[in-house]
Amino acid sequence: MGRSKQTFFYLLISSTFLLLCQSVTAAEVTLDPSSWGLEEGKACVDCHAKASAGLTHQWKNSVHAQVNVNCLDCHLAYEDDEDAMEHEGSIIATIVSPKDCGRCHETEFKQQEGSVHAKAVSIINNRMPALAEHFGSLSINDAGCAKCHGSKVKVRGDGTLDPTTWPNTGIGRINPDGSTGSCSSCHGRHQFSKAQAREPSACTHCHSGPDSPDKDVYETSKHGMMFEAHKDEMNMSSDDWVAGKDYSAAPTCVTCHMGAAGKMKSTHDVGMRDSWNLNEAVSTKQYLVIFEDGDKRELSTSDPVPRRGESISKMDGSMGKVKAVASPKRRRGAMTKTCLECHSKNFANNAMLQFDNVVELYNEKYGKPAQAIMQALYSENLLTPLPFDEPLEITYWKLWHSGGTRARHGAAMSSPSNTWEGMSEVGSLFYGKFLTQVGEVADPEKAEEIIKQHIKESEHHEWLNNPGKANPILGYGKGSSNEN
Ligand code: HEC
Ligand code: HEC
Ligand code: HEC
Ligand code: HEC
Ligand code: HEC
Ligand code: HEC
Ligand code: HEC
Ligand code: HEC
Repeated sequence: MGRSKQTFFYLLISSTFLLLCQSVTAAEVTLDPSSWGLEEGKACVDCHAKASAGLTHQWKNSVHAQVNVNCLDCHLAYEDDEDAMEHEGSIIATIVSPKDCGRCHETEFKQQEGSVHAKAVSIINNRMPALAEHFGSLSINDAGCAKCHGSKVKVRGDGTLDPTTWPNTGIGRINPDGSTGSCSSCHGRHQFSKAQAREPSACTHCHSGPDSPDKDVYETSKHGMMFEAHKDEMNMSSDDWVAGKDYSAAPTCVTCHMGAAGKMKSTHDVGMRDSWNLNEAVSTKQYLVIFEDGDKRELSTSDPVPRRGESISKMDGSMGKVKAVASPKRRRGAMTKTCLECHSKNFANNAMLQFDNVVELYNEKYGKPAQAIMQALYSENLLTPLPFDEPLEITYWKLWHSGGTRARHGAAMSSPSNTWEGMSEVGSLFYGKFLTQVGEVADPEKAEEIIKQHIKESEHHEWLNNPGKANPILGYGKGSSNEN
C-alpha cells in the first residue's frame, strides 16, 4: 500500500532518476499534478461523507485520494457539456467518461478506445438486432445485453440521465461526450484499483454465459485450478505485474490478454493478441488493421490485405488511412510470448496446435456445411429472410453460437470439459436436429440433394455411409453386448 506514496515521490524527483528506475513504473499521468486537487472539490468530500458515506469511504481508500485527486477532479464538467448540471455551487457531471479519465491517463484511454471493447455496442447494432428484439424486448436489452455491451446514454433536458440508459457500465457504452466505454466496468468504483482489475472476476462478470463462456472455461482449466489454490502467491497488488517475474503460480485472463511478459508491455487493448474470430458461424484468422488516428478494425484473411497508406472503411463506416497491419501470425506470437514465461516453446506451440485443430475441425465438419446448407435454403426461398421465425434457424444459431462458441473457447483456453461439452452439443444438434429440420422445410428430394451436396461427400461425415458398423463400447448397435 506504501506503493503509491513511493511512486508519487518518484514522480517528483528528477527525470534522470526515473529513467534509471525502470522497475518503478508509475501510471504515466499526462496532466501536471498542479492542475488537480481542486479546492472546490474538498466540499464534496465533507458533505458526501454524510450524504453517501460508503462511496466516500471507498474513495478515501483509493490511490486517487492518496495522490490528492478529489471528487471534482473527476466529476468536473463544463457548462456546454450535454450532461453538465449545477450541483451545490459547482458544475458537475455524474458520468466520468473514458475521455475524462484520459485527461490524466491518456495511454490507457487511447488503447481502450481503439480496442474491440470500445466497439461492443456497434457489434450488436450491426450484426444481430433481431436476437434482442425477437427473443426479448427493449427491457431485456436495457437490463441484459446493454449491461455488458453498453448503452447509448441519453441525457434529458436538465442534464440528468435517462433511466432506461443509465446506470450502465457496459464495455462499449456510448457516452454523452462521444467517447466509448466505461473505465469502471473493470475498475470498480470508487477505488479504481489495478489489483482488483487483475482478478478473473473483473472479466467474468461479462465473460460468462452463451456469448462468451470464459468463466466456466477458465475455472475448469488447469490455470484456473492453480489460481484457486495459489491466489495468495499471485502478488496481485504489486506495482509492476510481469508474468514469470512478479508472479508465476498461474495466469489470469489479464495475463494472457493484457498483461506484461518479458519485454512485452501491458495493454488496454484486449483484442490485440487474438488471431481467430471465435464468435462467428465459421472462424477465420484475423488481421488487425491500425489506422493513422489510432482506431483499429479486424479483417478476415479471406479479404484482401490492405496496404499501408490505403484508405479503407472503419468499423463505423467512415474511411480511414491504414498505418499498419498486424498479421494473425504476429498476433499469435504476442499471445505465445506470455506462455513462454511459464512453459517451454514446444509445450506452448503444441498447445496452440491442438487448439487450432479443434477450430479447423469445427469449421470443416460443422460450421461450413451448416452455413452452406442455410445459404442454399435461403436462396431457394425455402426459408424466409426473417431471422428466428423457423425452428431450423434457432437450431442453427444454437449450433454455431452456444455449442460452437463453447467448444472453440474451451480449446483456446485449455478446458477439456468445455471443449467436449461444446463439441458434443454441436454434434448432437447437427445430426440429431439440424439435418432433420432441413427435411421439414424442403421436400424430401430437395433436402436429400442439398444435404448430399454439402456433407455426404465429405470425409468428415463418411461414417454415416456405414450403417452396419457397430461400436460395442457405446453399448448399442449391432454386435454390442447390450443387444437383446
Ligand atoms: C451540501 C452537500 C453536498 C455537496 C457540497 C455536494 N454534494 Fe453531491 N450530492 C449531495 C446529495 C444529498 C446528493 C443526492 C444523493 C442521493 O440522491 O442519494 C448528491 C448527489 C451527487 C451525485 C449524483 C447525481 C446523480 O445523478 O445521481 C454526484 C455525482 C455528486 N453528488 C457529486 C458531487 C461533487 C463532485 C461535489 C463537489 C463539487 C458534490 N457532489 C458536492 C450532496 C452534496
Ligand atoms: C477517479 C475519478 C473519480 C473520483 C475521484 C470520484 N468519482 Fe464519483 N464516479 C466516477 C465514475 C467513473 C463514476 C461512474 C459514473 C459512470 O460513468 O457511470 C462515478 C459515479 C459517482 C456517483 C453516482 C454513482 C453511484 O454509485 O451513486 C456519485 C454519487 C459519485 N460518483 C460521487 C463522488 C464523490 C462524492 C466523490 C468524492 C468523494 C467521487 N465521486 C470521486 C469517478 C470518480
Ligand atoms: C453477460 C454479458 C453479456 C450479455 C448479457 C450479452 N452479451 Fe453479447 N457478448 C458478450 C461478450 C463478452 C461477447 C464477446 C464474445 C467474444 O468475442 O468472444 C459478446 C458477443 C456478442 C456478439 C458477437 C457474436 C456472438 O454472438 O457471439 C453479438 C452479436 C452479441 N454479443 C449480441 C448480444 C445481444 C443481442 C444480447 C442480448 C440479447 C447480448 N449479446 C447479451 C457479453 C454479453
Ligand atoms: C477490460 C478491463 C479494463 C478496462 C475496461 C480498463 N482497465 Fe485499466 N487496468 C485493467 C487492468 C487489468 C490493469 C492492470 C494491468 C497490469 O497490471 O498488467 C489496469 C491498470 C490501469 C492503470 C494503472 C497503469 C499502471 O501502469 O500502473 C490505469 C491508470 C488504468 N488502468 C486506467 C484505466 C482507464 C483510464 C480506463 C478507461 C479508459 C481503464 N483503465 C479501463 C483493466 C481495465
Ligand atoms: C486529475 C487526474 C486524474 C484523473 C481525472 C483520473 N486519475 Fe487515475 N490516477 C491519477 C494519478 C495521479 C494516479 C496515481 C499514479 C501512480 O501513483 O501510479 C492515478 C492512478 C490510477 C490507477 C492505479 C491505481 C492503483 O491501484 O495503483 C487507476 C486504475 C486509475 N488511476 C484509474 C482512473 C480512472 C478509471 C479514472 C476515471 C474514472 C481516473 N483514474 C481519473 C490521476 C487521475
Ligand atoms: C462490462 C463487460 C465486459 C467486461 C468487464 C470485460 N469484457 Fe471483454 N468483451 C465484452 C464484450 C461485450 C465483448 C465483445 C466486443 C466486441 O466484439 O466488439 C468483449 C470482447 C473481449 C475479447 C475479444 C476480443 C476479440 O478479439 O474479439 C477479449 C479477449 C476480452 N473481451 C477480454 C476481456 C478481459 C481479459 C477482461 C477483463 C480484464 C474483459 N474482457 C472484461 C465485455 C466485457
Ligand atoms: C493461458 C492464457 C489465457 C488465459 C488465462 C485466458 N485466455 Fe482467453 N484466450 C487465450 C487464447 C490463446 C485465445 C485464442 C486466441 C486466438 O484467437 O488465437 C483466447 C480467446 C479468448 C476470447 C475469444 C477471442 C476471439 O478471438 O473471439 C475471449 C473473449 C477470451 N479469451 C476471454 C478470456 C477471459 C475472460 C479469460 C479469463 C476468465 C481468459 N480469456 C483467460 C488465452 C487465454
Ligand atoms: C504465469 C504462468 C503461466 C502462464 C503465463 C501460462 N501458463 Fe499454462 N500452466 C501454468 C501452470 C502452473 C500449469 C499447471 C501445470 C501442471 O501442474 O500441470 C499450466 C498448465 C497448462 C496446460 C495444461 C496441460 C495439461 O496438464 O493438460 C496447458 C495446455 C497450458 N498451461 C497452456 C498454456 C498456454 C497456451 C499459455 C499461453 C497462452 C500458458 N499456458 C500460459 C502456468 C502458466
